[in-house]
Amino acid sequence: MSADQPGVAAVIDAARSRSEHVLTGWLNRQNGSCATLDDALRYSVLGSGKRLRPVLVYLAGRALGAEDDALDAPAAAIEMIHAYSLVHDDLPAMDDDDLRRGRPTVHRAFDEPLAILAGDALQTLAFEALASRPHPRLAALITTLAQAAGRDGMAAGQAIDLGAVGAPMDLAALQMMHQHKTGALIRAAVRLGALVAVEESDPRVAALDNYAAAMGLAFQIHDDVLDVTGDTRTLGKTSGADARRDKPTYPALLGVAQARERALHLLDEALEALQPLGEAGLPLAALARFMIDRDH
Ligand code: IPE
Ligand code: IPE
Ligand code: MG
Ligand code: MG
Ligand code: MG
Repeated sequence: MSADQPGVAAVIDAARSRSEHVLTGWLNRQNGSCATLDDALRYSVLGSGKRLRPVLVYLAGRALGAEDDALDAPAAAIEMIHAYSLVHDDLPAMDDDDLRRGRPTVHRAFDEPLAILAGDALQTLAFEALASRPHPRLAALITTLAQAAGRDGMAAGQAIDLGAVGAPMDLAALQMMHQHKTGALIRAAVRLGALVAVEESDPRVAALDNYAAAMGLAFQIHDDVLDVTGDTRTLGKTSGADARRDKPTYPALLGVAQARERALHLLDEALEALQPLGEAGLPLAALARFMIDRDH
């Protein structure tokens, strides 16, 4: 089986559908105490989104022998954290975006307080989901998600990003920022899947982490490139927004061609890291290609 065969695409699609189904279950499970907040949560998460992080959980876990049933909760949890990060990222106090996933951002469809609260509630629901299923390494799973989302992960990256608007940033600082704001959750997705399957000491966990570290950075570089080369309709978010806000990005520092080259180089690194997994790594290899060839 090669990574380009249709069989692999079907495997990825099935993982995406599965995660969609599990997320729908969590968000429709019961009514909370405020119907408007419930609506905002559903609006924030359901309906579209590429579901890359949950798919990474499934593919990494399966590659090391985990059952899908055991991967459902971590897959849903990481997407909830991601959705929360998007809702807050779009707020006027942050990137001030009106369009997300092809429709009005949460603070536009509802209002700012509700968008803040939806993010807050999604963050805690993520941990509720993760903790909902017993697992011998549950503490490690929770720690992985918490660290990736918080002050050593996404939140730190976002703080650096917003603090750097309009200020010059060198390549090392830009890389560090991207590794935090986007790379951390992508790495956590892969690590969650791996830790559901095997102990931390299994050498394949380190191999998968090398894969995820490369793809986490490549993914945000490609996101930066798409902001320059993509159109709003295809992206489902407003193109050209980074330049308008004078954001530190790879194309701003290196130009589009060199940024693209950098992403391709990271793809090679990621594919190399998968070698110890043999055939079991093929779906992850295909997903890596998709992550930097996507048009939205
Ligand atoms: C967008 O992430 C934000 C970044 C970290 C670049 P995605 O491109 O995965 O967004 P969705 O979930 O598919 O909407
Ligand atoms: C966002 O990066 C990363 C997050 C932690 C949400 P961007 O600000 O580039 O993401 P988009 O382009 O708005 O999706
Ligand atoms: Mg941002
Ligand atoms: Mg943004
Ligand atoms: Mg962006």
